[in-house]
Amino acid sequence: MNRKKFLINSSLAAFSVSIFGKVQPKENDFVGDCETTNDILGPFYRPEVPERNDLTSNHLEGTIIELKGKVFGSDCVTPLNHAKVEIWHCNTEGEYDNDSEGFHQRGKWYSDKDGLYSFKTILPGKYLNGGKFRPAHIHFRVTAKGSQELISQIYFHGDPHITNDPWASKKKAVHRILPISLEDTKGNLVVVFDIYLKDK
Ligand SMILES: [Fe+2]
Repeated sequence: MNRKKFLINSSLAAFSVSIFGKVQPKENDFVGDCETTNDILGPFYRPEVPERNDLTSNHLEGTIIELKGKVFGSDCVTPLNHAKVEIWHCNTEGEYDNDSEGFHQRGKWYSDKDGLYSFKTILPGKYLNGGKFRPAHIHFRVTAKGSQELISQIYFHGDPHITNDPWASKKKAVHRILPISLEDTKGNLVVVFDIYLKDK
């Protein structure tokens, strides 16, 4: 199967349900004062990913970024310790690693006592959804004791494919379209995504 042309259709959505044993989040989930809004799981989720936060390697092409943030509870200010943050995304060719034991561009990490998590990875490429490219995006699944599971995606400022994407163009995605910043003096690129979970 050509992964770039993998169509995200209703049958694949059903596949996603079978992995979690849980239905896709409703449209009106996570609409409190600060809760991070959800997004589709997509067809490329793999469970049991390695615990690691450096997803780069010598052979990996792409622009390296630091992706980091804090995980908070639903009061919007309390950091959550040991929240599990899973991410997955495609490479610069728009391809996901759906079957190798390397679990490339996939990993999970846990927030520390201050709620901090971070990953070193690359900016993803793009793949076709039907006849249109999805914008570059990184998938998230975040779980923490006492909180509802969050399945979401982040996008990037200035991406011309956001406008025509059924999910990134939604109003609820606006706070998940993030800048790529020169945060330090070394020219390193940083993306900050703070995550606000909702209580169970
Ligand atoms: Fe995706």
